Amino acid sequence: MTLAALILVTSIASGIVSSQASITIDAGNKTGLGFSVDYENNQFLLDGTPFRYVSGSFHYFRAPRVYWRDIFRKMRAAGLNAVSTYVEWSLHEPEKGRWEWSGEADLEYFLTLAQEEDLFVILRPGPYICAERDFGGLPFWLLSLAPDIRLRTSDTRYMEHVTDYINALMTRVGPFLRGNGGPVIMVQVENEYGSFDACDLGYMSQVRDLMSRHVGNDALLYTTDGDTADMLRCGMVPEVYTTVDFGTSSNVTRAFATMRLFQPRGPLVNSEFYCGWLTHWEESYSKVTRRSVASKLDEILRLGASVNLYMFYGGTNFGFTSGANTSPNYQPQLTSYDYDAPIREDGVLTKKYFDIKKVVERYLPIPNITLAPASLKGDYGAVAMERVIRLFDSLARSLLGRQKRNANEPPTFESFGIPLAMVLYETDLPENRTDPSVLTAGFLHDRALVYQGDRLIGTLSRTHNARTLSLPDPYAKRLKILVENQGHVNYGNKIHDFKGVGNVTINGLPLAKWNATGFHLGDVSPLLGRTAGVAAAAETKGLSDHGPVFLRGTFTVYDDPPLDTFLDTTGWGKGIAYINGRNLGRYWPAAGPQMTLYVPAPFLQNGENELIVLELENLRVPREFKFSTRPN
Ligand SMILES: *[C@@H]1O[C@H](CO)[C@@H](O)[C@H](O)[C@H]1NC(C)=O
Ligand SMILES: *[C@@H]1O[C@H](CO)[C@@H](O)[C@H](O)[C@H]1NC(C)=O
Ligand SMILES: *[C@@H]1O[C@H](CO)[C@@H](O)[C@H](O)[C@H]1NC(C)=O
Ligand SMILES: *[C@@H]1O[C@H](CO)[C@@H](O)[C@H](O)[C@H]1NC(C)=O
Ligand SMILES: *[C@@H]1O[C@H](CO)[C@@H](O)[C@H](O)[C@H]1NC(C)=O
Repeated sequence: MTLAALILVTSIASGIVSSQASITIDAGNKTGLGFSVDYENNQFLLDGTPFRYVSGSFHYFRAPRVYWRDIFRKMRAAGLNAVSTYVEWSLHEPEKGRWEWSGEADLEYFLTLAQEEDLFVILRPGPYICAERDFGGLPFWLLSLAPDIRLRTSDTRYMEHVTDYINALMTRVGPFLRGNGGPVIMVQVENEYGSFDACDLGYMSQVRDLMSRHVGNDALLYTTDGDTADMLRCGMVPEVYTTVDFGTSSNVTRAFATMRLFQPRGPLVNSEFYCGWLTHWEESYSKVTRRSVASKLDEILRLGASVNLYMFYGGTNFGFTSGANTSPNYQPQLTSYDYDAPIREDGVLTKKYFDIKKVVERYLPIPNITLAPASLKGDYGAVAMERVIRLFDSLARSLLGRQKRNANEPPTFESFGIPLAMVLYETDLPENRTDPSVLTAGFLHDRALVYQGDRLIGTLSRTHNARTLSLPDPYAKRLKILVENQGHVNYGNKIHDFKGVGNVTINGLPLAKWNATGFHLGDVSPLLGRTAGVAAAAETKGLSDHGPVFLRGTFTVYDDPPLDTFLDTTGWGKGIAYINGRNLGRYWPAAGPQMTLYVPAPFLQNGENELIVLELENLRVPREFKFSTRPN
């Protein structure tokens, strides 16, 4: 197709887009609405008209709801005509049979806004999504209900829950499908299944059939996989449109030629063109250059392909939602999912954004959207922190913890049946041990602070394969191991990722009789209302010898409404921060590279605000946090 023809085609398509609002949902009057493939001419058909998309990834679960519209508008203003989002099963079914569809989980509102902002939607419901999210979006309780479940296969114990999820989800999505007048044009079956060794075609067919029952001809089912024949072979499934994904270092011609081996006709599609990249703790920030993004995007569009830029807006892994890779060592991801994306985590448009817009406008009409001027960032000064209570104090244990007693093997986090951030394992050491004695943890997921009596004696780490420690105190009786869940593995063949510690020995002799206290820590407000008058003492500065400490401080926001800001964690050790009860996520400046946590304005209020942190390791002096107007 020539450039001129393409622009004409897309202008027509765009005309249809803007009149969407007037199309009412009427099952009896569906004629003409839909999304399909014109195999003869290698193109998509939107409502029967040739169409191509330039889409951007933006995950609703990574931004506060009140910002969704703003992000959509910025995407549309860059010329994008579609948005792609994963749907996160664990968010929508946090416990088996308990469904969440409101507030930040209000997918229907997200779809409504997308349509109002003139964007089509490419929906990626999983059930597994990777997405650098905890457990790749699968709910942890799959491992509680059936520890030996075979994930991402046709195992009936897995498929039973997948079926419930897909049915619950797609019942809600139905009215938003293109055939029903909605914005959803494509629905993905599973996610990059070809990167998973199981290669269970029966499973892929079952997921396809489940989705197909709801989608019918009202949208197009598709799969996407890395651009190698091996990945595509296990990732594709008959009767579903096959696409590829690749980044700036791939050869575009070769990548699409690989797609053609499995999808000989139909439009070319790159479902994840990586215009940024993810970052793990203890690395430096990943960067993808503007020049490579612009030139490869232009190459892709010149071929007439449709493309989705991953991520166009990355956002934040609030709370405990970030996942981990294992390649081959365990690598947990940052709280920030900024991703070096064209729209920064705090909504700021980068130079990359304008470079991309410049490329897109050669191929698609750019709508005349005037964006509001970039919002100012707030600096809310220094927050003096006061010690409130220790995690190991009995009041904290009883208000925040769940107990399991006298287990011969330390119980896994998942065996508690609730999502846990940390578990404290305690046992008594044998009295006749040698000096020195060596402790070994045969199994450790993911990181542990080890205490003898009341003293921190060392750190074990899955990442660094550090599972052995010489015990410095030959007289101490009590051993405490505080294990931290740093995020369930989200990618590859090791996603069956229980948390905890196991096969703990002293000089090769197993330890038994464990008491375990599981801490959820999603919300710590039950604790803090009850701690007035709890004596503050002990720790003054430096290493937090006696276990993690809750600290609290208040600060005043004079702006009305409040502004976005960043919490600067420089000088602290490792922990979790909460503002007004909202869990901002994990901080770990000692590892970096992330030093600041994004605090979106909607988490703040005019007047007094409360900052609470659980600091695991290092009590900074002076004992204060600062705010910053820029991320670091
Ligand atoms: C990309 O691959 C094609 C086909 O294999 C080859 O002809 C071309 O030279 C490659 N381009 C670059 C930039 O390497
Ligand atoms: C774009 O919109 C603005 C404000 O709505 C208007 O003033 C301007 O003339 C428009 N520009 C074009 C090229 O239509
Ligand atoms: C474990 O709990 C039991 C019952 O409360 C208690 O008697 C025992 O001392 C505890 N052991 C440890 C190591 O905390
Ligand atoms: C300590 O006593 C236990 C139980 O009696 C025994 O199994 C173990 O071998 C002893 N360890 C040492 C180092 O003597
Ligand atoms: C403990 O070791 C045994 C024997 O090697 C092994 O079968 C078991 O899986 C290990 N337990 C954990 C939790 O790793």
